[in-house]
Amino acid sequence: MAILKIARMGHPVLRQRAEPVADPASEPNAAALGRFIADMVETLEDAGGIGLAAPQVHVPARLVIFTPPPDDAAEDSTEDAEEADGEAPGAAPLTILINPEIEPLGEDQELGWEGCLSVPGLRGLVPRHSAIRYRGLAPDGSLVERGATGYHARVVQHECDHLDGVLYPMRMPDLSQLVFESEWRHVVAAARDEAQDGGQENDRQGEGRDAQP
Ligand code: NI
Repeated sequence: MAILKIARMGHPVLRQRAEPVADPASEPNAAALGRFIADMVETLEDAGGIGLAAPQVHVPARLVIFTPPPDDAAEDSTEDAEEADGEAPGAAPLTILINPEIEPLGEDQELGWEGCLSVPGLRGLVPRHSAIRYRGLAPDGSLVERGATGYHARVVQHECDHLDGVLYPMRMPDLSQLVFESEWRHVVAAARDEAQDGGQENDRQGEGRDAQP
């Protein structure tokens, strides 16, 4: 296994549309893919992130990995839902998704803070669909299909954007909400003051999370 180099904003691989992964479960694809996925997992763990897309490690393929946050339970309609039921509450299994597709459920969007391993040191307030269904293939070729809301849905949308050459700042309607991580505590403090003053309810879900999708 190896820790892979992470591409940063400005590298062309992050702006191109990634290619579908061919027949993941068949040899010899499966062996090479298995090694690559192991390297992605190690890279994600080393970086301390919660999600990683293949283009972020300079491979323009439609493959993402992420750890759904435990407090946004997925509604899982695949076989591994039963396995997940057997795990300790709060366990968040790593999901590997090949050739993923996202379907928004309804029109609702919500703002939330995001970071990105390819945009180090920054955070931004990004609108995302509140509820989605997503589907893709597991490395063994089986279908993964889930519903997701909240932060789980946000992470999946962020990762899949990487496959279409989209980085989260490109989704931001208000670049005044793009801040350095080191200054982010000011944003949190201001939002807290606003809430205490009975100001307008903010829907900045995800505040307080230390996430790097
Ligand atoms: Ni990212």
